[in-house]
Amino acid sequence: MTELIDRFGRKHTYLRISVTDRCNLRCLYCMPEEGMTFMEQERLLTFGEIERVVEAAAARGISKLRITGGEPLVRPNLDELIERLAAIPGIREIALTTNGLLLEKQAKRLKEAGLTRVNISLDTLDPARFRFIARRGHLDRVLDGIRAAAEAGLAPIKLNCVLLKGINEDEIESFLRMTLEQPLHVRFIEYMPIGHDDAGWRSHYLPLARVLETAEAAGFGLELGEDAPAGSGPSENWRIRGAAGTFGLIHPISEHFCQSCNRLRLTADGHIKPCLYWMDELNVRAALGSREELDALLDRAMAIKPENHEMAALLAGETLSRAPTERRMSQIGG
Ligand code: GTP
Ligand code: 5AD
Ligand code: SF4
Repeated sequence: MTELIDRFGRKHTYLRISVTDRCNLRCLYCMPEEGMTFMEQERLLTFGEIERVVEAAAARGISKLRITGGEPLVRPNLDELIERLAAIPGIREIALTTNGLLLEKQAKRLKEAGLTRVNISLDTLDPARFRFIARRGHLDRVLDGIRAAAEAGLAPIKLNCVLLKGINEDEIESFLRMTLEQPLHVRFIEYMPIGHDDAGWRSHYLPLARVLETAEAAGFGLELGEDAPAGSGPSENWRIRGAAGTFGLIHPISEHFCQSCNRLRLTADGHIKPCLYWMDELNVRAALGSREELDALLDRAMAIKPENHEMAALLAGETLSRAPTERRMSQIGG
């Protein structure tokens, strides 16, 4: 097997698969309130096409899959896709990133289909603020979804909290306190400027050093979360001494982690994105004819994968070296 190793020596074992750009929420950091022109049904890769891409990728060393959206649970019959992907030799883990709204209904069946675990977005513990950030939906349904995932054995559960200056930064301590009693893993995430005009981003971006300052001010003793739930994603893990759960920091801007990047992305409309940030994409449909063509496409992805993003340069007001992606986060899947 020829492994997927890029020009910077990074081995790729993780594929993030977006199955739809649609979502039942409109989180202010991800999608405009009015929604977007969504991909037409015919433009979405079918389950059979996704399966072929994963077969080719698994034969090259991809062992972990993450299903994303938009909101992946709005794609009909997702359990069927998971069942098919779980049967592919070499695939050892299939995780899902979801907003949790539809999880109560689907958790048990997804587990049976072969889903191993879930990461659930939760940016606030306050129902009114939830409506402000997500613009739709109800916090209670997300909390029901988290419970259902735990009951279904989709463990460990990770909660994703995008920190927004002036919006939810006052909840850092509450999220940290959740980990004291509950065996949860809360990940704080820096707000990234993906595919949209950056005025809102500049005013709400918050470096994650704030989390450690908050922990210190609250008198929490911290230790490295070496026993935090495994994941080959970018999180730096911590534990409050004696706590049941752990917390993680995903800080692409204040301290980028591109040197350890191990992931590729497949968009719902059939493009490989070697990097979340840049415009470069490869059209999968053109290569679906044979395994050789898919292999050549994966090689090409390794050849063009950039060394890093330039979000910090953007924050500093510097000019970027080339064009960033025009896709919104909902069209990539994070
Ligand atoms: P684990 O497998 O549990 O470690 O999950 P993960 O962190 O890989 O995936 P998840 O979908 O939960 O993503 C959490 C946050 O990390 C989201 O905001 C993603 O956009 C961000 N993220 C994941 N991978 C990358 C990456 O390669 N680059 C950047 N800049 N952000 C990423
Ligand atoms: N910056 C950081 N994280 C984001 N997510 C969505 N948009 C952004 C953004 N602009 C997160 C979601 C979800 C994961 C897929 O990515 O909250 O947890
Ligand atoms: Fe990898 Fe690009 Fe993310 Fe950096 S920004 S970690 S290179 S996907």
